[in-house]
Amino acid sequence: MLKLREQRTLYLNATSFKKLKSLWLLIFANVVFSTAIEYLPTELRLINLPAYQFPTLPFNAGPKQLVIVNMAHNHIHQLDKGFKNFERLKVLNFSRSKFLRKIPDLSTAPNLESLYVNHCASLVEIHESVGFLAKLVTLEAQHCKNLSTFPSNLVSKCFRKLDFQGSSRLKIFPNILEKMVFLTSVNLSGTRIKELPSSIDHAVDSSCCA
Ligand SMILES: *[C@@H]1O[C@H](CO)[C@@H](O)[C@H](O)[C@H]1NC(C)=O
Ligand SMILES: *[C@@H]1O[C@H](CO)[C@@H](O)[C@H](O)[C@H]1NC(C)=O
Ligand SMILES: *[C@@H]1O[C@H](CO)[C@@H](O)[C@H](O)[C@H]1NC(C)=O
Repeated sequence: MLKLREQRTLYLNATSFKKLKSLWLLIFANVVFSTAIEYLPTELRLINLPAYQFPTLPFNAGPKQLVIVNMAHNHIHQLDKGFKNFERLKVLNFSRSKFLRKIPDLSTAPNLESLYVNHCASLVEIHESVGFLAKLVTLEAQHCKNLSTFPSNLVSKCFRKLDFQGSSRLKIFPNILEKMVFLTSVNLSGTRIKELPSSIDHAVDSSCCA
């Protein structure tokens, strides 16, 4: 863990993490990298790397142990092909990633509970598979001014919060396929969504995931 009181440049050579094969946590606060990361250890449980300022971050395609990925304010343009096989992933925070264009297929992250993509100015698409994640509790896509391609169905019964406020290109609210017993907060202010599907009546009386 590396937490600096002031911002410093950290001189990593591109493969610095290769020697740390069993590294579990990657926590950086106030650290400015001098080069892009070229390798992420597969054993990582947590990435807390706000303001990563390079356009690429290579995930290798194999199974990952990651549970939390907190990478707000990053400069990634596109998530690479290795961005999959997140069997344990619960939290993904890509808020304020101003260059990110797409949240890709997340069907290989079946345990995802929270997805935050607030204030992602370039974000155009959240992949359809996100709507089929059965354990999603929170989906926040606030103020994504260019977001237009969005899941057309939401299946999770566990939703508590859906917040698309200020995402002014959103026109259609997804179909609700299951009863959302725990849903307490929906904010569509500033979207172009005019009506909720009749399926929103799927409200009370059901059991949910533990
Ligand atoms: C996600 O990142 C944003 C921006 O840094 C931060 O404000 C927010 O608290 C984070 N959300 C969670 C749930 O960690
Ligand atoms: C948003 O979309 C418009 C029109 O498609 C494009 O001109 C603009 O550059 C996009 N903005 C960002 C921040 O990507
Ligand atoms: C919903 O979003 C609007 C616009 O951003 C905001 O003013 C309002 O406080 C939000 N409502 C709730 C209940 O969070």
